[in-house]
Amino acid sequence: MSGLFVTLEGGDGVGKTTQAQLLTAWVEGLGRTVVRTREPGGTALGLTLRELLLHTEGPVDPRAEALLYAADRAQHVAEVVRPALARGDLVLQDRYIDSSLAYQGAGRTLGDGDVRGLSEWATGALWPDLTILLDLDPATAAVRRASGRGEADRLEAEKLDFHERVRDEFLALAAAEPERFLVLDAAGSVDEIQAAIRDRLTPLL
Ligand code: TMP
Repeated sequence: MSGLFVTLEGGDGVGKTTQAQLLTAWVEGLGRTVVRTREPGGTALGLTLRELLLHTEGPVDPRAEALLYAADRAQHVAEVVRPALARGDLVLQDRYIDSSLAYQGAGRTLGDGDVRGLSEWATGALWPDLTILLDLDPATAAVRRASGRGEADRLEAEKLDFHERVRDEFLALAAAEPERFLVLDAAGSVDEIQAAIRDRLTPLL
């Protein structure tokens, strides 16, 4: 595979979308094709799964939730990500396996092993070349979400301790694989964060 696979991770409301938009414009300006995509919901099947995952009313068993995210991922990698990488494109993706490890593994307390195994099976163990983690304390992120968007989805509506487990897990994943992760303080300015991302990406382009 000759493309470049870059993922953006972090809690809800940390500014991933803004950074992805700026980065896409910059990389395209350098003449490289960017496939901007996301999980859940990067395919037609995935959009249906996203609706189920984020807006089902009533209880969803954590294992059912983990399987639905993995189903979305399997379809997305097969239909979008692998073909784009085979063409040599840069895939810039909001959320991937690390989100399952943080939200289902730690947030839902399913543990790392099974969730990791499920996603590796779903994707043929395709891991990103670079993962940008935008780190923010969950209380601040909750304030940002409340002022920015509409009603909270099923995951966003979880209590603060859930989001604290998610954040701690993201940081632990980054500490375990420093060569894959770039960790940035999402409390910094949009421009500072963007500049740090470009610095890290430049040698990979
Ligand atoms: P977002 O696209 O607005 O970030 O919303 C997706 C939500 O789904 C977000 O709260 C994080 C959550 N999520 C998981 O719990 N596990 C996963 O594997 C992924 C990709 C997302």
